Amino acid sequence: MRLYIDSANVEEIAHLIEYYPIAGVTTNPSIIVQEQRPYLELFKEIREVIGGERELFIQVIGECAEEIVAEAKFISKQIQGNVVIKIPVTEEAIKATKILVSDGIAVLGTAIYTPFQALMAAKAGAKYVAPYVNRIDNLTGNGTKVVAEIAQLFSNYEVATEILAASFKNVQQIHDVCLAGAHTVTVAPQLISTFVSFPATVNDIAAFKKQWQQAYGKDKSTL
Ligand code: E4P
Repeated sequence: MRLYIDSANVEEIAHLIEYYPIAGVTTNPSIIVQEQRPYLELFKEIREVIGGERELFIQVIGECAEEIVAEAKFISKQIQGNVVIKIPVTEEAIKATKILVSDGIAVLGTAIYTPFQALMAAKAGAKYVAPYVNRIDNLTGNGTKVVAEIAQLFSNYEVATEILAASFKNVQQIHDVCLAGAHTVTVAPQLISTFVSFPATVNDIAAFKKQWQQAYGKDKSTL
């Protein structure tokens, strides 16, 4: 499983890159506008923080294939390093994906709610598909089941596209999609920070230190 940060906040990204095994950063228009900054400058700053190897995902705004292709080519020229273009999966997106992939531009099919949206994006050449797990759950669907079915379809048809599961509100959803076959996940910073915070662990650490200091002296807080 690879872990991506679902944020465009440079400070949060810098912090998480330092502490966690991070494969890259995913953004979408809602995430970008929260930063209230010129977007190209922001993308370039994120690139500087994460380095050229990690993937940076940037979503298009255009809706028809011609607009999507033009935006994707513009972004690919402007932003250095490993860039993946996110395209919400529609009929126009499938057409654009075929064109971009034949030009060597990596694509992620996003805003996916059904296994067949994922299968069409994959067959068009998308490197990744992003099912929106929590948004599916909110529609009284089952986000984990959608991920499991995409994984089954990809396995049945030997599709190499990876599932980058997105849209989570709790760690249980992330745990469930990882077991259901998601290859990678993208997670908001606040949720990543809860992955390894567990009160019992903190209590254990305090107990270990107390015993150690009782044996070796109160000034012994390290080995
Ligand atoms: C990521 O690529 C998605 O755009 C994002 O995870 C959506 O998350 P949300 O449903 O919490 O907005």
